[in-house]
Amino acid sequence: MAGPVVELPVTIKVAAICGSLRKASYNRGLIRAEFAAIETSKEEIDGMEVEYIEISSLPMINPDLEVDGTYPPEVEDFRRKILRADSCIFASPDYNYSITPPLKNALDWGSRPSNVWSGKTAAALSAVGGGRRAQYHLRQIGVFLDLHFINKPEFYLNAHRPPRKFNDDGDLVDSETKYKLKEVLVSLHTFTLRLRGNC
Ligand SMILES: Cc1cc2nc3c(=O)[nH]c(=O)nc-3n(C[C@H](O)[C@H](O)[C@H](O)COP(=O)(O)O)c2cc1C
Repeated sequence: MAGPVVELPVTIKVAAICGSLRKASYNRGLIRAEFAAIETSKEEIDGMEVEYIEISSLPMINPDLEVDGTYPPEVEDFRRKILRADSCIFASPDYNYSITPPLKNALDWGSRPSNVWSGKTAAALSAVGGGRRAQYHLRQIGVFLDLHFINKPEFYLNAHRPPRKFNDDGDLVDSETKYKLKEVLVSLHTFTLRLRGNC
């Protein structure tokens, strides 16, 4: 006779990447706010772990740096971290209507054989209004990388416009924005579980 059905907690690992290398980056502020949102919304987004993945030390993409199918140590480390994740969050500004060079570089290193992005869910965030153009390019790149972006809710923020969204330490202080950020996390959580066949 079959025993009782035990519901195992499903933890989703999320890799969070910031497209800006700027120390006081608003987009990195959004990623920090995700950690806070998960901490304070345990009931709605139970079982979600976010790891911040640094991309500033990655060398500029160059296949000559690949030796016998291995990559420079920083690249290997980065690729391992992405492989461990179920899902990715990209918070990036627009640079001249597209994604930033550091983010493209990270996406390119991850795409080298074997593509570490494949099959993961993803969400895109932008702290500055123009970021929507970068998000469309990111989604387009995601087609080839086999990343599955949530469509809704879209998340664009006009961090430069009043009311003030971030304090002097770069922490998100605007409650409406915090709520919207939480909605993105809930959507990403649900979509990831659905893709895995957990709901
Ligand atoms: C090289 C460069 C290109 C930029 N291009 C755009 C752009 O096309 N559209 C836009 O709205 N802002 C553009 N910006 C402004 C950035 O989006 C803005 O400074 C943003 O705050 C940077 O994000 P961060 O605070 O996370 O560093 C550009 C900034 C730089 C440095």
